[in-house]
Amino acid sequence: MNLTTSTDGNISGKVQCPGDKSISQRVLILGAFMNQDMVINGFLHGEDPLSTMNALNQIGAGIKVDEDDRVLLCKRNQSFHDSDDEINLGNSGTGLRLMLGLASGMGLKASFVGDESLSSRPMERVINPLAEMGANIVSSEGKLPISISPSTINMQYSYELPIASAQVKSCILLAGLAAGIEVEIIEPIQTRDHTERMLKNFGANIETTSLDGKNVIKLTSNNNLDAKNYTVVGDISSAAFLMVAALITNSPGLEITNVGMNPSRAGVLKVLQKMGANIEVKNQRLESGEPCADLIVKKSKLKGVELSGKIIPNIIDEIPIISVAAAFADGETIIRDAAELRVKESDRLKAVSEGFSSLGIKHKNFEDGMIIQGAPNTLILEQSLSIESNDDHRIAMSFLIAGLKCSKPITVRDCENIFTSFPNFIELISSVGYELEK
Ligand code: S3P
Repeated sequence: MNLTTSTDGNISGKVQCPGDKSISQRVLILGAFMNQDMVINGFLHGEDPLSTMNALNQIGAGIKVDEDDRVLLCKRNQSFHDSDDEINLGNSGTGLRLMLGLASGMGLKASFVGDESLSSRPMERVINPLAEMGANIVSSEGKLPISISPSTINMQYSYELPIASAQVKSCILLAGLAAGIEVEIIEPIQTRDHTERMLKNFGANIETTSLDGKNVIKLTSNNNLDAKNYTVVGDISSAAFLMVAALITNSPGLEITNVGMNPSRAGVLKVLQKMGANIEVKNQRLESGEPCADLIVKKSKLKGVELSGKIIPNIIDEIPIISVAAAFADGETIIRDAAELRVKESDRLKAVSEGFSSLGIKHKNFEDGMIIQGAPNTLILEQSLSIESNDDHRIAMSFLIAGLKCSKPITVRDCENIFTSFPNFIELISSVGYELEK
């Protein structure tokens, strides 16, 4: 599916932010592990969380969706079981890495596969700690397909994260939880803490302390988890596309309700505000242990910014759309320490650079980032042109938003991947004044 932009987009109105992808996947996994009746509201019915739901159902979770799109977990009379059929996690890195933790901790037998993008992504980052914990795990040179066979993880485990990754942290926590062992994780740079918050919210004995500037996360061996309901807050990573759309156009105001504001995820808001964005944060509240708020975003004069170091893991998924904001800001934006972007659903630094080159946006590449030479004007294109999404949802949506500032329509190719994280993107952006044509 290619999508073509229109040149008269004028963003305003009020929209509800779609459910958070990271949280939706975690609540399925922890909810199914808890094995009790539970209702999940606000779940993101995107392809990634649905892959995780299918994966859990393949090992016996019996998760259902009702006619109001609520997710229903029901108490089963048996625990999880092995899977003879391959478990396909599609495009979802979170689904795969977290399921590997759960299934290893349970000592199950299962084989995991995924789509072309997931099959090319590095998995040693979870395979190595899981193997150290005692899992029997075989991969194809650190990548999919990956098989695990029955094992017993029974020693307490301590691990210092060599890369800033919430998926690795969560994989180890889930393996420890499922195996019933004590786990300690040392996290030199803060990454999203949804797993820790959710475990705490469900009654687990988990504490995070600080030592020499690093987080030390400790989960004890005996945990009685309990919850009857969970409400997933909106995904700030999805809201970021809407925020930038309003900021770079003549928007009189766009209200985005129910946006997750977890401090380990809200870096994009800080960055945009530092760039001069006019964003009002209203109705701050807590929903199932996660902060959330409503945002009002108005047209703003943006300026360039320097981004490196500890903020990077906090904004890792938003860097492509921040780069688009930077392209229409006054002055230079410098992004460093972001080499992890090269192993996401696509090589996002390369994909952004190629799209920028097609649009004539001046930039310079580094192995771990780029310098973007911004200018607030509309880009004058001599003719319509095509941009490659690289089958990556965040690249596709970033360039569709860039289309708001192009003098001619642009076509972003292969946009199906948007359904992994933002299934109603086309309808929602149309409801606030920007038509995309299939
Ligand atoms: C995620 C963690 C991040 C992020 C991804 C979702 C999660 O990945 O990029 O989209 O749900 O834990 P890493 O753990 O690889 O940094």
